[in-house]
Order: sequence, then structure tokens, then C-alpha cells
Amino acid sequence: MFEIINLIYRYFSDTLFHETVMRAKVIGMKKMWSYNNPVRILFGNDGFASIASLIDGRTYALVTYPDAPFQTLTEYLTEAAGKPLIVVNDIAPNPDCMLLSEQSARFNSVTSRPEVIVALGGGSVIDSAKVFAAAAGDFGKVLRHLETGSGGSGLSAIPIIAVPTTAGTGSEVTSWATVWDEQRGLKFSLVRDNLYPEIAVIDPTLMLGKPYGLTLATGLDALSHSIESIWNINANPVSARHAVAAASTILADLPKLLRDLGNLDLRNRIAEASLNAGLAFSNTKTAIAHNLSYPITLGWGVQHGIACSFALPTVLRSVIGVGGFRETALKQIFGEDLGHGADNLTDFLASLGVGHRFADHSIPDAACIKIIDEAFNGERGKNFIGSKESFLKAATQSGVFNCNLNN
Ligand SMILES: [Fe+2]
Repeated sequence: MFEIINLIYRYFSDTLFHETVMRAKVIGMKKMWSYNNPVRILFGNDGFASIASLIDGRTYALVTYPDAPFQTLTEYLTEAAGKPLIVVNDIAPNPDCMLLSEQSARFNSVTSRPEVIVALGGGSVIDSAKVFAAAAGDFGKVLRHLETGSGGSGLSAIPIIAVPTTAGTGSEVTSWATVWDEQRGLKFSLVRDNLYPEIAVIDPTLMLGKPYGLTLATGLDALSHSIESIWNINANPVSARHAVAAASTILADLPKLLRDLGNLDLRNRIAEASLNAGLAFSNTKTAIAHNLSYPITLGWGVQHGIACSFALPTVLRSVIGVGGFRETALKQIFGEDLGHGADNLTDFLASLGVGHRFADHSIPDAACIKIIDEAFNGERGKNFIGSKESFLKAATQSGVFNCNLNN
């Protein structure tokens, strides 16, 4: 008797469950989402002093810049943690295949592979360190993977301690690196789950003394990372919360910091905002504003942080009415009237000397359509929840460039 009752109960329970699932599918209830970031984060003004204990007796490679402040930091680290097995200190902006190949080969000059890489610098340093970690002396296998998409499982993975000295890259909490090929006019993205740094050490004192232009460009890069993670097909409620916190702080505090570059409290706030932006886009990647930026950086030499942020007001106008948690997040940042918010964002950028028109960055109208077409067809463009038509409409209405929509 008990078994029969149990069977009847299970039948109705299963039927109810099945019907509930089907109903959820029919009425389009929220699909399942997940958020993951495995990077341990140490944040604070004493962060740099802890690196030796984080190395913890392991052999290490140091990747950094050649400039005087980095030489001083290198000496300090060497005293505290012992001599690095390898030092790569000629990192250039926008890491390029040619230099990366030569730098990667230096890992063959030692008999044993370093057990950990310390990346001390901006986004270029941390991205380069990820390439070295994957290459382990053989950049050719990284390049083949970038060009063909195959061979990923054959790449290496040396743990990385990422110590950003600018607030903007987010690379300290992501699993990818941007690799440029200036000669061929290409930009690649090296993405591997095992390239998440082991630890991110964020010490805002290392950001003190960074000049106005670098502080501006990196701060705007972080702003772009945060907003791009919202108008993104991969957005989720957790990434959106990180993004709202990041963008709101940057809009409020970046202009104050640019007027007071030595203010450690403001450096802390922007560093934390940049970290939040990194945590947001670590799960979504970027979207259309970044895909617009790459040819502009390659072809016209516009700094990444400027190139990926000047179009943000136009993109914002084009997604008005998107609905759901994405629109809620955008309204938390820009206010209930997103059209007015786009005007304010335009004014915000203008007040920092960043025009919202292509022409403001010396890009001729004739080049715009090609840049836009390619951006929407690119990988990051496909992350964008909006449409090219809405973008073109918004761009034309706000005078971002002159184009004939019938073309
Ligand atoms: Fe960026």
C-alpha cells in the first residue's frame, strides 16, 4: 500500500516538475547563469611588501618595465625574495608578436623553468607575462594557437603573481591577453582558463606618481570594461553589480583624481573600481566599443583607453530600452533617463578632453563604415546585445560621423 502511494506521489511530483520547467521555457523565464573568478586578491597599500612571501621560495621570473621606478622596485624585490631566474624588463605598450617571440625565447636561456612569474606593471606587462606563461620558451606554439584556434592543450601554464601598477587593465583578474601583430595589422586574444593569475596584488601606492595622460587613459579603459560588461550577451546579475560599482566610482572620482594625482585615497578608490570592472568583464569579455577601438589603435595610434571609450555615449544611446537587469544596471549608473545619461557621458568625456566623434581622433568619415562593419562582425562585437542599425542611427543623430545609411 505504501509503495503505491509513493509511486502516485512520485508521478505527480515528476509531472509537476516537468510542467514547471516547460512553463519556464515557454514564458522565457531567466536562463541559468554562473559567475566564476578563481583569482585570489590582495588589496591594500602594503601589498608590494607581501610579494616575497607570496613567491614563497619558488624560483621566479620577473616581467616589468625598464624605467627607473621599476628598477628600484626590482632591487627591493630581489633583496626580499632573492634573485629572479629571468628578468624581462623591456615590455613595450601593446605587446607585439615580434617582440614577444624574442622575449619568450629568453626562457630557454635557463636550465629550469621558473616556478612562478611576477608581472609588475600595467596591462602590457601582465598580458606579456601570460604569453610567456603559455609559451614557456616557445612563442611559435602560442602563435599557431592564435592563428588556428588549435593546439591550446599543448600550451604551458606557469603561475602568475600579477601586480598592476596602473588602474585600468583588469588583466590581473582575467584569463586572457591581447596580442598585437602590427606588421599584419592584426589583433589576437589569447584565452585560456589556466592563465588566470594565481594572485592579484593591488597596491595603490604603486599607482602614485602616474602622470595625467596614463591615469586618464587607464581610468577610461576601466570605465569601458565596466559598461561593456553590461550591454553584453554574457552579462549576469553578479557581473552587473561589479560593473555598476566600478562605473559609478569612476564617473564620480576620476576627474577628482586627475586634478589631484598624488591623492592616495582617490588612487585607492579608482584602483578598487578598476578591480571591480575587471571582475565584471572577466566573466563577459568586452563588447562593441572595444571592437571599434582595435583598428583605431592600430591604424591611427590612438591610446587603447581613449579608443575604447570615446564611442561609449553612442553605444549607450543605441541600447536604450534594452530592458531587464541590464537596463536597470545602466539606470543605476546614468539615471532613469538614459538619453540624458548619454548626454552627461558625452560631457564627462569632453571635460577630460575626449571627443565623442570619430573625427575628434583624426579618423576620416570614409573609414568609419568599414571600422563599424568589421567591429560588429568581430568576436567582441558579437558579444554586444544591440544592433548595428541602432548604433548607426544613434551615431548619425548625435553627429558622431556623417554617413549615408543607404550605403
Ligand atoms: Fe580595454
